[in-house]
Formats: sequence, C-alpha cells, structure tokens
Amino acid sequence: MRSLAQILLPAGLMVFTAGWVASDNPPQAQSFVDYCAYVGSNLTDHWLGLFCRNNMTAVFGYNYTWIDLDLCIGNNGGQLIPYDNGNYSTSCTNCSFVAIPKKTITLSCLCQDENKQIFNSSLDLNTTLYDDNGSAGCFGHSGNKTLDYPNP
Ligand SMILES: *[C@@H]1O[C@H](CO)[C@@H](O)[C@H](O)[C@H]1NC(C)=O
Ligand SMILES: *[C@@H]1O[C@H](CO)[C@@H](O)[C@H](O)[C@H]1NC(C)=O
Ligand SMILES: *[C@@H]1O[C@H](CO)[C@@H](O)[C@H](O)[C@H]1NC(C)=O
Ligand SMILES: *[C@@H]1O[C@H](CO)[C@@H](O)[C@H](O)[C@H]1NC(C)=O
Ligand SMILES: *[C@@H]1O[C@H](CO)[C@@H](O)[C@H](O)[C@H]1NC(C)=O
Ligand SMILES: *[C@@H]1O[C@H](CO)[C@@H](O)[C@H](O)[C@H]1NC(C)=O
Ligand SMILES: *[C@@H]1O[C@H](CO)[C@@H](O)[C@H](O)[C@H]1NC(C)=O
Ligand SMILES: *[C@@H]1O[C@H](CO)[C@@H](O)[C@H](O)[C@H]1NC(C)=O
Ligand SMILES: *[C@@H]1O[C@H](CO)[C@@H](O)[C@H](O)[C@H]1NC(C)=O
Repeated sequence: MRSLAQILLPAGLMVFTAGWVASDNPPQAQSFVDYCAYVGSNLTDHWLGLFCRNNMTAVFGYNYTWIDLDLCIGNNGGQLIPYDNGNYSTSCTNCSFVAIPKKTITLSCLCQDENKQIFNSSLDLNTTLYDDNGSAGCFGHSGNKTLDYPNP
C-alpha cells in the first residue's frame, strides 16, 4: 500500500478521503469510479475534468484529464444513457454532478423528450466512463491528459 502523499497533486488540494485506490496493478482501462477521483473534479458545460491514475505504478502517478461527455452520453426520450457520440448536451441543460467516493460520480441534467417535456435524469458515469492510463475514456474515445491542474 503506497502512501497518499505520493499522489501527485497541486499544493492545497491534499484533502483525501476514500476514492483513491492504492494498488500496484497497472490501471489501464480500469473502473472509472475506482481509479478516477472526485477530488478536484469539474464539470464545465459538457466537459468533465478530473484526476485519473496512469500506469506509472512506480510513482503512483495521476494525470488531470478532460473528456467531452457528448462523446459518451445521449438523451433517450428525456433519459441520459450511455451512447457513443450521443450529444446529450444539445437537448439537456442545467447539468450538475454528484460524486460519492468509491461509489459513483453521477451526472444529472434536465433533458427534453420529443414532446419537449422535461425530465431530471441521472446517469452513473461508472457505467459509461473508464480510466485509460490516466485519461478518462468512453467507447474508445480518450480524454486529453496533462499534469497541470486547471485552477492552481
Ligand atoms: C472548472 O474549470 C473551468 C475551466 O477550466 C474553470 O473556469 C472553473 O473555474 C472551474 N471550476 C471550479 C469549481 O474549479
Ligand atoms: C505504460 O504503458 C506503456 C504502453 O503500453 C508501456 O510502454 C509502459 O511500460 C507502461 N508503464 C508501466 C509502468 O507499466
Ligand atoms: C501524466 O502524469 C505523469 C506522472 O504521473 C507524467 O510523467 C506525465 O508527463 C503526465 N502526462 C502528461 C501528458 O502530462
Ligand atoms: C453528435 O455530433 C457529432 C458531431 O457533430 C456527429 O458526428 C454525430 O453524428 C452526432 N451524434 C448523434 C447521435 O447524432
Ligand atoms: C436552469 O438554468 C437556467 C439558467 O441558468 C435557470 O434560469 C433555470 O432556473 C434553471 N432551471 C432549473 C429548473 O433549475
Ligand atoms: C465500476 O465499473 C467497473 C467496471 O467498469 C466495475 O468493475 C465496478 O464494480 C464498478 N464500481 C461501482 C462502485 O459500481
Ligand atoms: C436533478 O436531480 C438531482 C438529484 O436529485 C439534483 O441534484 C439536481 O439538482 C436536480 N437538477 C435540477 C436542475 O433541478
Ligand atoms: C501511460 O501514461 C504514462 C504517463 O502519462 C505515459 O508515459 C505512457 O506512455 C502511457 N502509455 C500509453 C500506452 O499511452
Ligand atoms: C484538454 O481539454 C480541455 C477542454 O477542452 C482544454 O481546456 C484543455 O486545455 C485541454 N488540455 C490539454 C493538455 O490539451
């Protein structure tokens, strides 16, 4: 078990609870909720930014990754669903997300159905996203990757 202090994070962000998994297994294409962190996560429009663990197990490395959720999620009759290039943001608004350590990162939006009726729909992103060596991914799409935290 490696110490949490070995995780690369900007100063001032060392507030950890659960949600980080200490493991020596290379975390490629791994469980989103176990290898990506709610600490420092950020939903800006349809972009989700967060830390995900890469396969540099010697340094227990993480990267900050942004993924376009329009590549991952669609709106099916007012309900958010996992969907390749689903473009949910063209018909869903007022999105927010809730992260529960080790359990889920859930996206909620108001989505219109074909009759313009509005539903508040939620999707557990662990059903759709995964960690690909420090990038958040879905359906073969990969988020970008950096070490820089967007708001130091
Ligand atoms: C989320 O990221 C955006 C774009 O980098 C930034 O403008 C915004 O301040 C961030 N929000 C939070 C809460 O960090
Ligand atoms: C990470 O993955 C790359 C490409 O598969 C590989 O070359 C590299 O050795 C891996 N690093 C570790 C620490 O497993
Ligand atoms: C990802 O983080 C590792 C350290 O864990 C760093 O060496 C690497 O340069 C970062 N990748 C990018 C694209 O910034
Ligand atoms: C989503 O938008 C992209 C880019 O405009 C387009 O290529 C794709 O077909 C759209 N997906 C759906 C399900 O309409
Ligand atoms: C959705 O967002 C808009 C613009 O920010 C706001 O005016 C509206 O009250 C929000 N709707 C709900 C139901 O929260
Ligand atoms: C998250 O998804 C992975 C598979 O993608 C699964 O193995 C894991 O149990 C899920 N975790 C939760 C808390 O749902
Ligand atoms: C939709 O429901 C979720 C979960 O109850 C809530 O967190 C979110 O604020 C609601 N969204 C709107 C726009 O009311
Ligand atoms: C995995 O991520 C590490 C750190 O960013 C990088 O050095 C390595 O090349 C990556 N491997 C692949 C297959 O992308
Ligand atoms: C990653 O994508 C986000 C959202 O488009 C962008 O703000 C950021 O500059 C990109 N970072 C890199 C390293 O390309």
